[in-house]
Amino acid sequence: MPTLLIVHHTPSPNCQSLFEAVLSGATAPEIEGVEVVRRAALAATASDVLAADGYLLGTPANLGYMSGALKHFFDQVYYPCLDTTAGRPFGFYVHGGNDVTGAVRAIESVTTGLGWRRAAEAVKVTGEPGKADTEACWELGATLAAQLMD
Ligand SMILES: Cc1cc2nc3c(=O)[nH]c(=O)nc-3n(C[C@H](O)[C@H](O)[C@H](O)COP(=O)(O)O)c2cc1C
Repeated sequence: MPTLLIVHHTPSPNCQSLFEAVLSGATAPEIEGVEVVRRAALAATASDVLAADGYLLGTPANLGYMSGALKHFFDQVYYPCLDTTAGRPFGFYVHGGNDVTGAVRAIESVTTGLGWRRAAEAVKVTGEPGKADTEACWELGATLAAQLMD
């Protein structure tokens, strides 16, 4: 069964609400035949990445970059997964206080290096997530999972 791997760093209730919306979209009843695996960024391994067919990343913006936790994830998996995972679809969401530009750029840079294919627009949220933000995250999860359906 195709597998969607969600790798997220979720340190606060605002980040949690985005994560839950992504998960809800990815596991919606319309999505059939796709296994959704979620891993905290500090627990995700190269084996998780190699075993999956698509990726969904979630992080807060920290100091103008992705979180240290997601950076650690990429540090761990980059070379073990290079080549093998090129071309696989991915999407991501970023939550910040006021400016997520650097975090978005960082994720685009590392995923370009890996050769992953962006399969949905990034969802960028600042402050308390509103209905449109959680809906965008739901769509993000559903879009990635739908692309993995046979
Ligand atoms: C050390 C630190 C650095 C941060 N750097 C940024 C940043 O560069 N850009 C930004 O938009 N938010 C930044 N934030 C805010 C976090 O992204 C935000 O706290 C996180 O997404 C959780 O959201 P919440 O605090 O609204 O629950 C930073 C927070 C911390 C603790």
